[in-house]
Amino acid sequence: MNLGFSARIDGAQIICDIGSDTALAAPVLCFSLLAAPRVIDGGVLQRRLAGYGEVVLPDIAAGQIHRLVLAYDHPDYSPKNRAWLPLGAYLRVGKTAHPLPAGFDLGVHLASMPAAAPLPAQTLPLIPPPQNWQGSGGALAFAALRPDPAFVGADALARRMGLAPLTAPDGYDARPVIDPALPAEGYVLTIMPAGLTITAGGAAGAHYAAITLLTLREATRGQLPCGTITDAPRFGWRGQHLDCARHFFSVDFILRLLDVMALLKLNRFHWHFADDEAFRLELHSYPDLASKTALRGEGHLMPGVFGGGISAGGSYSRADVARVLAHAAALHIQVLPEIEIPAHSHALIKAIPGLRDPGDNGEEMSVQGYLDNIVNPAMPSTWDVLPAIMDEVSSLFPMPILHLGCDEAPHGAWEGSPAVHALMAREGLDTWADVQGWMMEILAARLAARGIRAAAWEEAAKGKNGGIGHGALLFSWTGQGPGVAAARAGYDVVMCPAPHTYFDLAHSADADDWGARWAGVLPLDNTLSWDPAPDGSPDIAPRVLGVQGCFWGEFTTADTQAEAMIAPRIFGLACKAWERQGVTTPAQLRAVIPYYAPLFAAMNWALGPL
Ligand code: ACM
Repeated sequence: MNLGFSARIDGAQIICDIGSDTALAAPVLCFSLLAAPRVIDGGVLQRRLAGYGEVVLPDIAAGQIHRLVLAYDHPDYSPKNRAWLPLGAYLRVGKTAHPLPAGFDLGVHLASMPAAAPLPAQTLPLIPPPQNWQGSGGALAFAALRPDPAFVGADALARRMGLAPLTAPDGYDARPVIDPALPAEGYVLTIMPAGLTITAGGAAGAHYAAITLLTLREATRGQLPCGTITDAPRFGWRGQHLDCARHFFSVDFILRLLDVMALLKLNRFHWHFADDEAFRLELHSYPDLASKTALRGEGHLMPGVFGGGISAGGSYSRADVARVLAHAAALHIQVLPEIEIPAHSHALIKAIPGLRDPGDNGEEMSVQGYLDNIVNPAMPSTWDVLPAIMDEVSSLFPMPILHLGCDEAPHGAWEGSPAVHALMAREGLDTWADVQGWMMEILAARLAARGIRAAAWEEAAKGKNGGIGHGALLFSWTGQGPGVAAARAGYDVVMCPAPHTYFDLAHSADADDWGARWAGVLPLDNTLSWDPAPDGSPDIAPRVLGVQGCFWGEFTTADTQAEAMIAPRIFGLACKAWERQGVTTPAQLRAVIPYYAPLFAAMNWALGPL
């Protein structure tokens, strides 16, 4: 059987053409959109879950092309670009699922990369730019350093990239001198015509000196300019997040992302492996969690939401976690695990019974269109399940921080739950936010008692008693305002404002582009046009621990699609993470990125538009 499928945007509508060389009786088109679909013409919607839909089509005769017209159900949503077209579409005929072609171009726009042009004197081809560079004239012909434990991570990175090794027995002797007076991640690299010296505040600083040398060696074809780089990051938290719940990213992709981060001196990987669609970490305490939710599609607990298609997904074993941790540690990157509660927990609730109030008649719907995605804090099982998951996850990761999620509780959460109403009366709670704050506070206290700091998205500060408390670290994502407010309320914050750091946003407003649009579009320039500790709020600066890029996977159907979304925008993030405010301009960033193009080519990592 040969099946054809195409999809395109026509104003607010999506035109799908389905054809077959064989007669099909009552075929069902299964697909997903970014949010709930509606049928305008050509079929009958028989099932919907979040953005997933199943549409019964009329019989299709051999050689006939049937037209189905879809739209987004929400009156404010219309398809903005190709990422908003049906993903993972397939046809079910009788009991058999038949794959369909993608139906449109799934590619992300790539950079048209200008040649690297000579940079102004005083500008080194380095991202992030070093804090200080004093050129002294002349050059050092440089190939390698003599091996030292401090250079192992950078050398391994060079070898993985297929570049010349960074260390060799006949390399320059530049064993780092540790100077505790320098910041732990800081270093001073002096390049002289006859050799070089490295002084560092600690092992991380020496590693960053080696990354700088590797980058300069490649950019200058081994002719390092002489002078002194005095360098240290502005922020201790220089993060990148990856949503591995909506799309299962392979461990190999995660390792490659860690390499990209390392090249740009980022040091925190935020691993988002649980969400409404899946809980991908294999746990001993609840093995069903991963085994029941890792795959989605035909015959699975979860249908093909967010591009799942007939069957897609995977889970991470303990051995996978160990691989990620070892790779990260060698690159001075710490890994922050996240479990998502109380909302974004549809998969958790489906896989483990007892987390919803059976008497709950509420109709609250999550932003992604789930009717049951919030764990109920008035259920006894909740207090067995969540602590067990928290304990096991935190025991697998050396970082003494566990991210508990806590974003986007649906409007009207728990209103229909008699058990929550009883809880509110008992605990003197007035609103859903109070209930959430009460719940998060208990969970954070439990972590604190075990020496683990809670982290959460900005919403965790809500509630009449100040929300999660307990020294939690909050991630300000809708903008910087909630982070500023949380900092003023005494929380430490990481700034990841979507309009500047969400790399799943489209690069442009072009209908032929690719990406989310809820927070506008994110051209490269916008990654620089903000200050993590905003003007007018110097009082909160000490509470801003750093910045983070996020990549959400709702419309990613192949790992490689994420590459050109993440880069080059991650270059702007690296500047914000490392340098003092307002140093690098978009023009300067654009001038340096071409020097990195060969490095990204060596990593086989595509670059999106400049
Ligand atoms: C988020 O983007 N919902 C944290």
